[in-house]
Amino acid sequence: MKMRVPFNDLKLHHELLQPALRDSIEAAISSSAFIRGPEVDAFEKEFAGLLGVKHCVSCANGTDALYICMRGLGLQPGDEVITTAHTWIASSETITQAGGRVVFADTDFTTFTIDPQDVARKITARTKGIIAVHLYGQACDLAPLLELARKHKLWLIEDCAQSHLATYRGQMVGTFGDAATFSFYPGKNLGAMGDAGALVTNRDDLAEWSTLFARHGGKGDHKIEGINSRMDGIQGSVLRVKLPHLQRWTEARRKAAAYYDARLAGIGDIVTPAIAPGRDHVYHLYVIRTARRDGLRQHLTASGIETVLNYPKALPFYAAYAHLGHKPADFPNAYANQGTILSLPIYPEITEAQLDYVVRSVAQFFAQA
Ligand SMILES: Cc1ncc(COP(=O)(O)O)c(C=O)c1O
Repeated sequence: MKMRVPFNDLKLHHELLQPALRDSIEAAISSSAFIRGPEVDAFEKEFAGLLGVKHCVSCANGTDALYICMRGLGLQPGDEVITTAHTWIASSETITQAGGRVVFADTDFTTFTIDPQDVARKITARTKGIIAVHLYGQACDLAPLLELARKHKLWLIEDCAQSHLATYRGQMVGTFGDAATFSFYPGKNLGAMGDAGALVTNRDDLAEWSTLFARHGGKGDHKIEGINSRMDGIQGSVLRVKLPHLQRWTEARRKAAAYYDARLAGIGDIVTPAIAPGRDHVYHLYVIRTARRDGLRQHLTASGIETVLNYPKALPFYAAYAHLGHKPADFPNAYANQGTILSLPIYPEITEAQLDYVVRSVAQFFAQA
């Protein structure tokens, strides 16, 4: 029997949080605290407390958080920043926006995260920092990256947009670098009901500067020229309702991933997500690899199962970066993976019947071959 399996089910996710969500939104309306306000202040404290960092500076979205961080770290025109070749474009476009030059490093073939050895090869006298993306929800290999940063006096920003509560060697991601950025885009592991983001840091100077910069350089006393990047009061209230559930949702994602891991292993040429030693995964995305990706995707779509390509091409191969003149051989791992990756549905509320249906549909495709 045909079943519908959405890629994510935000409608159900929010229905299960009623009436708390409705109450919190009504309270925000009654108080007219639409831009920042007490709910946003409280969320900043609670989120910093959960991660174990000194400061959380909320802003309008995860992209702004990266931009604000790089400006706060003093990026100057022509400075080079290294980031991973295969990620969402926010990780790189903000480097250009902040006045820097984007330098891509290849990914590790099996974990899809940035390859520290390629980062080492890309460091020049003009390199100022590294943006390490914990892609799909798995921590990247931070130890060698931190060692490179220390040795070459570079800053390191962790892009945690997909990795809320993931750990590296038992410590929460977002607590290793000079700063870390989070997205609370609705579909993220912790999502608002619109755009929202934050940066976290243990550095007092960076927190202070970012707070000023994101809010027009200071209210009533403009110490610097800034930008307008503030979290809405309603988003702060929504995030406060959701935050206590994040650990439980993360476990539910892990359980769904374990089900896929066990049942997909051995079907056709499928490779399930690999987790490197000392790291864990919060499965923002569950990404498999198969040489028959496009055929499988078509079959799943026809079976009522939504899948996504995260991301169809590695960034150096988009028109936006044609000026860098890269060839596939420059990023062999990212190039190979872009043609084989497929993200299967995963979200906390996905049922065993839905997971079973996805697995059976995948098996059916390979059996027909
Ligand atoms: C890796 C990564 N970095 C940054 C961002 C930017 O976040 P936002 O959409 O909140 O601006 C995203 C969001 O999709 C992302 O996946």
